[in-house]
Amino acid sequence: MEYVHYSVMPNEVLASLIPPQEGAATMVDCTCGEGGHTHRFLAAYPNLRVIALDRDPGILEKAKVRMEEYASRFTPLNIAFDEFFKTAEEEQYDLILFDLGISSYHYEESGRGFSFRKGETLDMRLDPTDPISAMDVVNGYPEERLADVIYRYGEERYSRRIARAIVTERRLSKINDTERLAQIIYKAVPPAYRYGYLHPATRTFQAIRIEVNGELDRIEVALAGAVRSLKKGGRIAVISFHSLEDRIVKWFFKDLEGDQVNILTKKPLVPSEEERNENPPSRSAKLRVIEKL
Ligand SMILES: C[S@@+](CC[C@H](N)C(=O)[O-])C[C@H]1O[C@@H](n2cnc3c(N)ncnc32)[C@H](O)[C@@H]1O
Repeated sequence: MEYVHYSVMPNEVLASLIPPQEGAATMVDCTCGEGGHTHRFLAAYPNLRVIALDRDPGILEKAKVRMEEYASRFTPLNIAFDEFFKTAEEEQYDLILFDLGISSYHYEESGRGFSFRKGETLDMRLDPTDPISAMDVVNGYPEERLADVIYRYGEERYSRRIARAIVTERRLSKINDTERLAQIIYKAVPPAYRYGYLHPATRTFQAIRIEVNGELDRIEVALAGAVRSLKKGGRIAVISFHSLEDRIVKWFFKDLEGDQVNILTKKPLVPSEEERNENPPSRSAKLRVIEKL
């Protein structure tokens, strides 16, 4: 089987989350994906068991195949991380990892319309049983709400123009696919913006995806549960990919600093130049690590 996702900062993550040497230890990988990080941990530590969560059942199937040789120490669960911690017991786990966002698999293989470079049906749900898809957001939200989503979750300065163009176009016919949506956005923005560093649809697609999956709302709930279910002296590592995520993580840990947690990364760790060159999507990543007091 082919794995398309490059794990971000693999060495830094391994160096930040070290299980106790004596006895069995348990790590929760809250965002297993294709299992790149989990595989490294299982290979490195024979005393470690990994509970691996992912909202997306399709990607978890790939991780199961990858982890065959470690199956006895690998427990995959198709659940959202915030849901998982609602029922997790206190002070259970030694290590917890969050690698937020989506995987290259979603852009390249899922066929669910995460990429504006492909002609796919507009869906963008990580969990295919969720009630709201990207098609519902794009065709159903009132113009002002759509503009707010694009502004807030995409930090897109042309959010109002883009929302207006979407609403005008959807009156003609329902917007079903990524190619048409990308074209509408392209035409809606000023010509100079069309030839910038980012494709003009990048921010709007990110915004719709975050809205569809409720991504930001889940982070704080999950972090609170993770701290509760972490053993004293245990560690949490979080990799974020954009300022909206990083801000939530940073302030959540700052609020608990000194009282409940010790922040081990006063400044977040970032990928080396070598990694950024080899894996350009890693360039915006930030890794924050805390230890429970
Ligand atoms: C960046 S990828 C993880 C990559 C993985 N660490 C690796 O090295 O292969 C993030 C994964 O988290 C999953 N995910 C996103 N939000 C989630 C949530 N709230 N609960 C559980 N999984 C989630 C996505 O489906 C995706 O597979």
